[in-house]
Amino acid sequence: GNRSWKADVLMEDGIIYKVGENLQQEEAKVYDVTGKLLFPGFIDGHTHLDLEVSNTVTADDFETGTKAAVVGGTTLVIDFATQNKGETLKEALQNWHKKADGKCSCDYAFHMAISDWNDYVRGEIQDMIREGITSFKLYMTYPAMILNDGELYEVIKELNKYDCFAGVHCENADLIDALIREARKAGKLGPDTHPKVRPPQLEAEAVHRLMTIAAQAEAPVMVVHLTCEEAYEELIAARAKGQTVYAETCPQYLLLDDSVYGKDGFEAAKYVCSPPIRKKKDQEVLWKAIREGQIQTVATDQCSFTMKQKEMGREDFTKIPNGMPGVETRGPLMFTYGVREGRISQEQMCKVLSENPAKLYGVYPRKGVIQSGSDADIVIIDPEKEGVISAATQMYNMDYSPFEGFSLRGCIEKVFLRGRLVVDGGRLVEEKTGTYIAREKRQL
Ligand code: URP
Ligand code: ZN
Ligand code: ZN
Repeated sequence: GNRSWKADVLMEDGIIYKVGENLQQEEAKVYDVTGKLLFPGFIDGHTHLDLEVSNTVTADDFETGTKAAVVGGTTLVIDFATQNKGETLKEALQNWHKKADGKCSCDYAFHMAISDWNDYVRGEIQDMIREGITSFKLYMTYPAMILNDGELYEVIKELNKYDCFAGVHCENADLIDALIREARKAGKLGPDTHPKVRPPQLEAEAVHRLMTIAAQAEAPVMVVHLTCEEAYEELIAARAKGQTVYAETCPQYLLLDDSVYGKDGFEAAKYVCSPPIRKKKDQEVLWKAIREGQIQTVATDQCSFTMKQKEMGREDFTKIPNGMPGVETRGPLMFTYGVREGRISQEQMCKVLSENPAKLYGVYPRKGVIQSGSDADIVIIDPEKEGVISAATQMYNMDYSPFEGFSLRGCIEKVFLRGRLVVDGGRLVEEKTGTYIAREKRQL
């Protein structure tokens, strides 16, 4: 992420053996990638594959989701294993291994989402660390997963004892409920009401509260899917006081704006995700934050539901399952609209998609860098190749794309996963060679 240069990469047994100019190796198979760009395999630190939620299950599971991920240049997804209320963390982890093991076309790891905090679960944190889980997820919203402020405080403080941390979904749940009741009374139940009951101030308030909680716990914390200026300012204010706060955003918040909710009929349901899509001015704030190194990573919050599933909320937007697909398009979108259009440099792209998530989530330098000794996870981008995003040509189990019609300049050409060519000419050529990655403690 600090410099780009022209080099040969020699891989052996799944590992990068050497990086340098004019490397010679008699028996090596040679791929001529002159004029192409090599990135360390992208890491997506925020996916929900095979997640049961809103009386349904995400359209993409580990099989289709990781196929989509790897053709998009992602060689490691870190999915949110989720504890249901009443479950132990070990049960949740077992469930997630059952969902994922043997099905993945890129490498995979898990965070653990804690939904039920008690003394038993407190005792399981170290078990999770032994299983390779060094980051956790906490929700300040969603009835099935919400923790109250005291619980947030206790978990955040406990995790810090072991140099672990949590990513937190920040929105004020109680106020959202009140705004929903109000909308219901007014008969405003279309998908265009979704962003109105989840305004930016409610995200900002939750970020502020989280900062207070983390300060009290004297512990680091992460804000996941940061969307808007108001919330960003709260985060920056906490950093100014010396707090360690990490931040993540996603392409949908960088590239879409709230005009999507003005689309006809039920179209707007495609964009029902939480927090919702914000304003154009927020996009600018987020891009600038990436440039300035204030946002450490761009993940996807992949959580896909087909239009048929979204239909469950045709009469009542609160019944629309929240989320959208994203793993397949993150790399090409960040390259085209970030690097090509001059919003960020290619080195910054490398940082937010590869190096920083590797450091944050404890897989660096095994992943996140092209250097000798690292896993040979390499993405090759053809910077001139043009394309257009369309659900019709994607790998997802999906009937729409939130980025339908977005043109691309810069497409994924090849992907090596631990030295194996798994994507060639933009197509998946080898399936299900992904392995579980046990993670270490963070290095950022
Ligand atoms: O709408 C969203 N983002 N669904 C996925 C779950 C979450 O909040 O991260
Ligand atoms: Zn969330
Ligand atoms: Zn999420």
